[in-house]
Amino acid sequence: MLRTVVCVSGGGTNLQAILDAVDNGTITNTEIVAVISNNPGAKALERAANHNIPGICMSPKDYADRETFNEAFTQKMCELAPDLIVLAGFLVKIPEQMTAKFSGKIVNIHPSLIPAFCGVGYYGLKVHEEALKRGVKVTGATVHFVNEGMDEGPIIAQKAVMVEDNDTPEILQRRVMEQAEWILLPKAIDDIANNRLILKDGHVYQA
Ligand code: GAR
Repeated sequence: MLRTVVCVSGGGTNLQAILDAVDNGTITNTEIVAVISNNPGAKALERAANHNIPGICMSPKDYADRETFNEAFTQKMCELAPDLIVLAGFLVKIPEQMTAKFSGKIVNIHPSLIPAFCGVGYYGLKVHEEALKRGVKVTGATVHFVNEGMDEGPIIAQKAVMVEDNDTPEILQRRVMEQAEWILLPKAIDDIANNRLILKDGHVYQA
């Protein structure tokens, strides 16, 4: 069983897609052992509680400085000893000590076709606002391994989604979630849990 910790910040619809996929057998060999949120009000924590999964709240705001938070966060993760860490709408930068300790074991979902609309400042609705401002006709989502950079790790999978006339950021966000994110992320977890993904020399290969 792949011991998996999911990190969240908000609504947790991606977390829900993972939980549903575990329940209905789309994801196999996987146990969600904890959900970590930086936001005590995150609906994602309710979704975890509904599944009897321990929810842990750790916010940088509760620590004297970022370095103290980073150490506590990494320490907590080491205690949980996951085989995989899934960032499912987690808006806190992963500390370098964590990417080093869990190299090749952290994946993130991002709501654009990386390298478009990614990096510092591009998260959540902001990504879709910028895509619409730029007038792109196609956008999408990306699942990738996490390294010390921001949205820079090796790409696992991407899925394109059409932009439509009169889209608002909210409408586009929902379409990207429905057509791409909620499919890509559970599939990536299942592929990792069943040894179908190989990460070698910074590239991902499908077995
Ligand atoms: C999702 O669209 C996810 O791709 C995005 O935040 C949203 C979280 O929604 N993540 C990022 O922007 C990371 N850079 P959710 O809480 O309903 O899953």
